[in-house]
Amino acid sequence: MTDLIKAGLEDVVISTSEICFIDGQQGRLLYRGYDIDDLVVHSTFEEVVYLLWYGALPTRKELDAHVKALAASRRLPARLIGILKNLPRKTVPMEVLRTGVSALSAFDPDERDNSREATLRKAIRLAAQMPTLVAAWERIRRGKEPVAPNPRLGLAANFLYMLSGRKPTELEAKTFDVALILHADHEYNASTFAARVTAATLSDLHSAVTSAIGALKGPLHGGANEQVMLMVDQIKEPARAETWIRKALADKARIMGFGHRVYRVEDPRAKHLRRLAAELGRQAGNTAYVGILDTVARVVTAEKHIYPNVDLYSGAAYAIMGIPADQFTPIFALSRIAGWAAHVLEQHAHNRLIRPRAEYTGPTQATYVPISQR
Ligand code: CMC
Repeated sequence: MTDLIKAGLEDVVISTSEICFIDGQQGRLLYRGYDIDDLVVHSTFEEVVYLLWYGALPTRKELDAHVKALAASRRLPARLIGILKNLPRKTVPMEVLRTGVSALSAFDPDERDNSREATLRKAIRLAAQMPTLVAAWERIRRGKEPVAPNPRLGLAANFLYMLSGRKPTELEAKTFDVALILHADHEYNASTFAARVTAATLSDLHSAVTSAIGALKGPLHGGANEQVMLMVDQIKEPARAETWIRKALADKARIMGFGHRVYRVEDPRAKHLRRLAAELGRQAGNTAYVGILDTVARVVTAEKHIYPNVDLYSGAAYAIMGIPADQFTPIFALSRIAGWAAHVLEQHAHNRLIRPRAEYTGPTQATYVPISQR
C-alpha cells in the first residue's frame, strides 16, 4: 500500500464537481465556469452566492428575490445573543462563530430536514446570519450592544455597518464585496473537504459548516491572513521590511500569505486584493501596510519561488478599514459559507460516504498485561 500513500492527499482526485475550477499552472479560478476576474468587475457577492448554489447566473427577478430573502434573514434569535453575552469576553472570534453556527441549528425550523429545498433555506439563513453573528460578537466583547441589521444595505455594506455602527464609504463597501466574491469558493480546500466529509455521512448543513469553520481556523488555511498582519505589525515600516524578511527566510520561517497546494504561480485572487488594499490605503493615508507587503512579496518570490496567495493582502485591506486582526478569519467564513453550502448540496445530490484508509504501522502482536503487572 505504501506506494499509494499521498501525504496530505496531494493531487488526489476523489470525485467530480461542477462548482469550481482551479488552474494551478495558469493561475485561473472559475466559479461555475465564470472567471473571478470578470465576477469582481461585474458581479456582487449575493449574485455569486446564487451562481454557486443554483449553478447559473440569475435573471433580474431571481436576483431580486434572492437578495430580498438574504436581507430578510439577517436577525439572530434573541436567545442566541444571550448565548454570546454569556461567553467569556476573551473568546477568540473564530470560536464564537463556530459555537454560534452550531447553536443556530437549534433555532432553525428546518433542522431535521435534509432535503435540497430545506438545505437551501438553511443556507440562506446561515449566509445571512453569520455576518450578524460576527459583528454582534465584536460589539459584545467591546461592551457595546449589537447593531441591528439594515435591510436596505447589501450584505457587505451591512456587515461593515453592524461592525462599527457607521455606514461604510462606497470604496469600503465595494472592497469588502469584492473580498467576499474572491473567497466564496475554492474547490476541495481543507474546510470545504471537512464540510463534504461531514455531509457525506448524511449529516446536516449546520454540522457540515461547523466542521468547516473548525478546519478554516488553522493558520495553514484561513488563519493565515491574521498571521500576515502580525508579521506586518512586527515589521512596522516599509524601510525595515527587506532586512526583516531576509532574516526570517534565513531562519527557515514559514512566511504566511505565500505558497499554495494547487497554484504554482501567483494566486489569481491576490492581485485584486492588493489593488483594493492599495486604493483604500491611499484614501486613508496608510501606504505602509501595502508597502511592507510589496517588499516581502518581492523578496520571498525571488528567494523561494513561492508566490502570494489570497491571504497576503486581504488582512491589509481589512486592517485599513479598522477591523481587528482576529476577525479576518471569521470574515473569510462569511464568504466561504457560499462554497460550503454549494458543496454540501452537491455532496448530498451524489452521495457516497467518504472513508479513506490508513496504512497501519503499529504493532500487531501485543499481549495484554494486567495493570497491576505494568
Ligand atoms: N513559507 C516558506 N516556505 C514555504 C511556504 C511558506 N509560506 N510554503 C511552502 N514553503 C516551502 C516548504 O518549506 C517546502 O519546502 P521544502 O520542500 O524545501 O521543505 C515546500 O515549499 C513545500 O511546502 P509544503 O508545506 O509541503 O506545501 P503544502 O502544499 O503542504 O502547503 C501551504 C501549502 C499553503 C500550507 C503552505 O504553502 C503554507 O504553509 N503557506 C503559509 C500559510 C498560508 O499562507 N496559508 C494560506 C493558504 S491559501 C488560503 C487558504 O487555503 O486558506
